[in-house]
Order: sequence, then structure tokens, then C-alpha cells
Amino acid sequence: MGEAGVAGTDPRDPRDPRGLRGDAPLLDAWLRFTEAAQAGRLTPMSVPGHKQRRDLTGAVTAGDAPLYGGLDTIKHADTMLAGAERRAADLWGADWCRFSVAGSTHGNQALALAAGRPGRKIVVTRSLHRSLLLGLVLAGLDPVWVLPEVDPATGLPGPVPVRAVAAALAAHPDACAVFLGDPSYVGTTGDIAGHAAAAHEAGVPLLVDAAWAAHLGFHPDLPPHPLAAGADAMVTSAHKALPAYTQGALVLARAGRLDPARLDRAFEATHTTSPAGAIMASIDAARALLARDGQELCGRLLRAVAAARQRLRQVPGLDVLDGPGVEPAKLVVLLAGTGAHGNLVEADLIAAGMPVEMADRDTVIPIVTLADDELTVSRFTGALIAAVERHRAAARTPVPSAAWTVVPDLAVSPRQAFFAPNETLPASAAAGRVSAELVAPYPPGVPVLAPGEVITAAALDALRAAQAEGSRIAYAADPTLATFQVLTRLPEINFPGPLSPERPRP
Ligand SMILES: Cc1ncc(COP(=O)(O)O)c(C=O)c1O
Repeated sequence: MGEAGVAGTDPRDPRDPRGLRGDAPLLDAWLRFTEAAQAGRLTPMSVPGHKQRRDLTGAVTAGDAPLYGGLDTIKHADTMLAGAERRAADLWGADWCRFSVAGSTHGNQALALAAGRPGRKIVVTRSLHRSLLLGLVLAGLDPVWVLPEVDPATGLPGPVPVRAVAAALAAHPDACAVFLGDPSYVGTTGDIAGHAAAAHEAGVPLLVDAAWAAHLGFHPDLPPHPLAAGADAMVTSAHKALPAYTQGALVLARAGRLDPARLDRAFEATHTTSPAGAIMASIDAARALLARDGQELCGRLLRAVAAARQRLRQVPGLDVLDGPGVEPAKLVVLLAGTGAHGNLVEADLIAAGMPVEMADRDTVIPIVTLADDELTVSRFTGALIAAVERHRAAARTPVPSAAWTVVPDLAVSPRQAFFAPNETLPASAAAGRVSAELVAPYPPGVPVLAPGEVITAAALDALRAAQAEGSRIAYAADPTLATFQVLTRLPEINFPGPLSPERPRP
């Protein structure tokens, strides 16, 4: 196997209907390996333990091939992988790229481990995904929080203003980096070029969790991706916006303010030594698809989303997030004006075989990707409208979810709190104590409470409200919220406060 085998393959192979293998070495290797396995030409004396047999655990392992010892020999697969990652780096204009089989979760943690050293500060969006919060714990970085603006009309978060980041950097000149989530979970986008300028002015890199935005920059009507807008690094989930296997993600960076050798060490620190070849090959295939057909497919996506937005807006009381500062491929449906409860609408959509990514009382967020076309989106839109009509009630004012409104009161650094002795208290006694745990309604997985933060009455109310509305309360030791894990005592700390931010006004 190897890149030499790429040339001369049949682009009409039904397992590769768009003929991507010629530009995708990992995909080509996966196609060869699985063909040989299916034909019974392999008797592997290496992992995985299923040995390509289907008579034991059955079809569930079909298509599984290790990167090392499957797509190429254990001694040479790293060279093949580096070739595929080089192609992705070139496509995104990066100097460094790695493929991850552990999602943007791993990517965020890798960048956190590469950004500084224990005890350093980092300017971070508080509406961060819980993976990045745990990245701060792993890396021992102390957050200087910046908050997004929340639009009172929709209850949804907008971008973090550049002035908030610039002020945080001015107040904390010892910060080692700025780490923002952009686009936000609801597709609102900020001024990445402005943030990059502010970060660079302060002499630090800008890192961006762009988990939802692997398609950005591949059509003139889409915003540029973060690297093109001036960021030094970005994390993105290939499995979210692109047609790649679940867990597939890319971490991309520019050298200069970040050291590629350090990035590699940070990436490898928590990545498996046995990456699934199918996931890796699907990232490679998605990259080849974007490179060749990205503009055409993004154009189709944009047309489908624009048509859906227009149709939904014609329904009395129904609205969508739209306008400048909203990623044009994102469909965020605002229900408050119809009175329909998002959870009931979601249940109808699940029953119709159309599960959505997120629903709460006032919002439904389906994920529309390059894999959708006008027909699938139009069918979904019809089903959504029918569900809304079934559950129509008195119009109401939207209430922002706890994830967007939390104003943290940080008493102890997340890392210190994570490792500190703790005890379990009833909720009534936990108020005012310091949380040992991370508690996040999921989705969106934004912590309402993080290790080291004071358990305020506002946080408790917000969590209970999310629970009452039917949200899953994730990561809490007691998801019923009857008890909380709090620090037994404040450990000896030398914590530079105050780090709690003020919420910016829109
Ligand atoms: C903003 C953000 N970052 C990171 C992640 C983690 O991504 P993954 O599921 O690929 O690990 C998510 C997941 O939803 C997310 O919303």
C-alpha cells in the first residue's frame, strides 16, 4: 500500500462514487484494505481483535481497519498520514494539521495543552464547550472569561465583542493566548480579524474552537474560516459540518506564534495510539471532497437553508435567526411567537425519523450539511411546520437558556478545584460554596457550573429551570440536582482575581 497505489484506480468504484481516492491517500488505502478483508485475502496477526470476521460480533465491525497495520504497515502508516494531513494543511492555508479520531473535544484539549503552561492565564469565551473547560484543567490554565452578547429579542448569544477581548488582554498582560468559540453553537459569528488583531497586538496567539464550521471559507457567500481571518489555530469537527465519520476532527495551525513541535506533543498527549483508519480515511475523503466540489456543495447547502428560512418565516409567529453575523448555512428556528414548545416539536420530528441536534422550549436547531439537498431540507421544513401547528399555543417572550446567561464567579482555578478534596451537600447547603464539578445542560454542553466557580442562587435557578424544561443535566454527579459536589475547603491558593467579567451590552 502507500501513495503509489493511488494512481490508476477506478473512479467508478461504487464504494467511492465521486472518485475521490485519487486525491485521498487514506481513503484509497481504506478501500484497498477493506476490499482485501472482504475477499478473505487477509489473516491478520495484529489488532483489532475481530480479525475481520463477521461470525462473532457480526456486522458491527464491518469496515473497521486500524490506521497502523491496516491502512499501511505499522512502520509506515505515519508517513501516509502525514501526506494526508499535508493536503488538509494546504487546503486550509495552515502550516500544521493533524487528524483526530476524538472530535473537537480532543482538538480543544490539544490546543489548550499547547498554549501555555500551568498557572498562566488565558482569555476564553465563557460560553465554551465543556471540552475546552477540561482542557484548561489538563493544561493548568487560569481562565480570564469574556462573555458573548445575548440578544434580548431571541435569548440567544451573539459574538464576543473585540473590545471585551482587548480589555481582558489589557487587564491581564500575562495572558498566554485568546481562545474563542466561533461560530457560536447557534451560528452567530464574531469579528475574528478584529480578535486576531487584538491578540497579536498583545503578542499572543488567537485559537478558535470552530467545531461547527468545517465548511466555512469554501463558498464566496460563507464567512472565511478562522485561519483565513487571521487566527493562529482552529479546531473543527469533520463529523459535524462535513460528510465524515462520527468523531473525525481536524486541528490546524499557523507556525510563528505557535510551535509545531509543541503542538504535536500536545496533540499526541491525549490521542489514542490506535486511531481508526475508517475515521481517518473519512476525514481525508471529506477534505478531498471540499477541495474539489466544496463550492458547488456549499452553494447547494446555502440555497437549501435560504429557502427553508424564507418558508419558515411565512408561518405566523415562526422566525429564524438571520442577518449579518449569522452563519448563512445555519438553521436556527425561533418558536416563541408560535407558543409551541420545542421539546414537543422535537418529539414529533423524532417520531417522523428526523431527529434534530438541539431543542429547548424556544429554539429548535436542525443541522443541515453538505449532505442535504433542497429536497431533504424541504421535507424537513414541512414536517417542522406541521409539528409547530400541532403544538401551537399562546405566543410568549423567549427566555435565554442558562448556557448563555451564566456570569461565573470564579473562586479557585478550574485545575485546583478539579483536584481538591470535595464533599456532597444538599442543594440548599451547596449555595455559596465552590463547585467541584462541571454541570452542563446538554446540548449545548456549555457549563453552567464549572469546577472552581461559586454555586450562586442564579446558577441553581438556571439549572433547575433547564431541568424543568426537559433538558438533560449532563456531567453532574447527581443529575436530579438534589445534591452538589463542593470543595471541602479552599485549598492554599495564589489565585489572581478578580476574573469574573461583566456582561457586555448588545
Ligand atoms: C463548540 C463545540 N466545541 C467542541 C465540541 C466537541 O466536539 P466533538 O463532539 O467533535 O468532540 C462541541 C460539541 O458539540 C461544540 O459544540
